[in-house]
Amino acid sequence: MDQPIRWRLNGQPALSAAEAQTPLLYVLRNELDQHGPRFGCGLAQCGACTVHVDGRATRSCVTPLTVAQGRDVTTLDGLAARWRQSQGISDPAVLHPVQQAFIDEQAAQCGYCINGWIMTAAALLAEKPQASDSELRLGLSGLKCRCGTQVSVLRAVKRAAKVMREAKAREAQVSGVKVLA
Ligand code: FES
Ligand code: FES
Repeated sequence: MDQPIRWRLNGQPALSAAEAQTPLLYVLRNELDQHGPRFGCGLAQCGACTVHVDGRATRSCVTPLTVAQGRDVTTLDGLAARWRQSQGISDPAVLHPVQQAFIDEQAAQCGYCINGWIMTAAALLAEKPQASDSELRLGLSGLKCRCGTQVSVLRAVKRAAKVMREAKAREAQVSGVKVLA
């Protein structure tokens, strides 16, 4: 039998003894109780299964489990906690800015696709919170929503971008103080 695959899931050690080629999505949902990533198309076409692998938005339906070996995987289930940790926020009710913006903008309808939008937008904005409208549209262009929420989703992502820019500015200020100290 192969050695179990070991990685970190939402900041905690995780392992699975599933076959190395098993889609990561199946392991996350069926073995590890992760309800954020969804099975949509199973063909990397819709984005419903998106997770972060080392911070990059990754379609877990076509990602073999073996890719997770030694990596840092975040699902929607752990996104808010990781955000709070990164920002030193102790209030457990605080959500990731993208999650909060989706609520504020009432961006979801049936909600099936929402994991994909939130996880993709969160990775995109973490890398580039100052992304222009066209960069946001391009970054989100591979996602599908059968309910037609694209306009409210874009509004929500722009709202979240503002919060994440402010957070980045605060971080820069704090690290600037440290450098000067
Ligand atoms: S379920 Fe993975 S991209 Fe559609
Ligand atoms: S909100 Fe229903 S599929 Fe997107």
